[in-house]
Amino acid sequence: MTDTLAPDTDALKRDLIDRISAAADEAALEEARVFALGKKGVVTEQMKRLGGLSDAERRTVGPALNGLKNDVAAAIEARRAVLAEAALTERLARERLDLTLPVRPGPLSAGRIHPVSQVTEELTAIFADLGFAVAEGPDIETDHYNFTSLNFPLGHPAREMHDTFFFNPKPDGSRMLLRTHTSPVQIRTMETTQPPIRVICPGRTYRNDSDQTHTPMFHQVEGLVVDETATIGHLKWVLEEFCKAFFEVPKVEMRFRPSFFPFTEPSMEVDIRCKRSGSEIRIGEGEDWLEILGCGMVHPNVLRAGGIDPDKYQGFAWGMGIDRIAMLKYGMPDLRAFFDADARWLAHYGFRPLDLPTLFGGLSA
Ligand code: DAH
Repeated sequence: MTDTLAPDTDALKRDLIDRISAAADEAALEEARVFALGKKGVVTEQMKRLGGLSDAERRTVGPALNGLKNDVAAAIEARRAVLAEAALTERLARERLDLTLPVRPGPLSAGRIHPVSQVTEELTAIFADLGFAVAEGPDIETDHYNFTSLNFPLGHPAREMHDTFFFNPKPDGSRMLLRTHTSPVQIRTMETTQPPIRVICPGRTYRNDSDQTHTPMFHQVEGLVVDETATIGHLKWVLEEFCKAFFEVPKVEMRFRPSFFPFTEPSMEVDIRCKRSGSEIRIGEGEDWLEILGCGMVHPNVLRAGGIDPDKYQGFAWGMGIDRIAMLKYGMPDLRAFFDADARWLAHYGFRPLDLPTLFGGLSA
């Protein structure tokens, strides 16, 4: 009777090894493992039956079963390694990359930076190099910051000259407005900063005006320097250095004409020498003059409005149209196209997103 209980370990081993080598994938191999070595697996079952065998049988069957168990486990591991290797090879073949294929242009190379953003980055890089920080203020301003603090007297015609967009009056009669220039940021900066002050304030500005060179929303950059010794000489130097760097020419010639702004005294408008041929404009040569900015020495009333003692400090300021200098530098004839959001225009006049303007790498390269 005991004879029938002793298993034929050789036949069992052959059967199990066959199942293991037949397993075509990890799941089938796991199935074979459970069949052989699982809690209710055939080898396990045989182990459990050892107790029912005679001593003599146990002495031969026991080690045979242990050997079988080890062999089966080793066969499973070997098969697992073969399957893993095959899976990896198959995956490598499936995910093969042909590195000789031309790169398909992604969004980063298809997208373009708007010329206004580009020029703002350019002028920020130039003034940062000259030691200027960037200051900002709100687009929606009070009458106080946009006019009164800048020495526009109440009822003065200069207020009307700005074609201001006003909001509806508040219950107290005051009206908010869309800032007509970046000059209010001068006052906001003086209120919060101790001199010496060196800032530029780029941003959006608004006037009720529209033609080939005017749009209701446009961009300006303000410059402000306040310290104990700032002079017109410094102002001229800063503007000349800026123009040379911005237009990327070795020399520029500038013409300072007397003018009037309520917030500066004296006030000047600045032209640069240029040469026009057709739609092309060359800066720094030729017989023509192009107006590019307004500037002057900060009026004592403006310093006072900003909380700065005009007996101790003096300063200079300027204001420049960003869109205008962008048109000049990059030969774009119509300002309105800037804000049409026409993808073809942007593809033509826009800049690559990763070509950030730096002084050492080239501004517009
Ligand atoms: N705010 C003036 C305008 O929009 C431009 C300007 C002129 C700004 C002279 C200044 C300045 O800071 O000094 O027309």
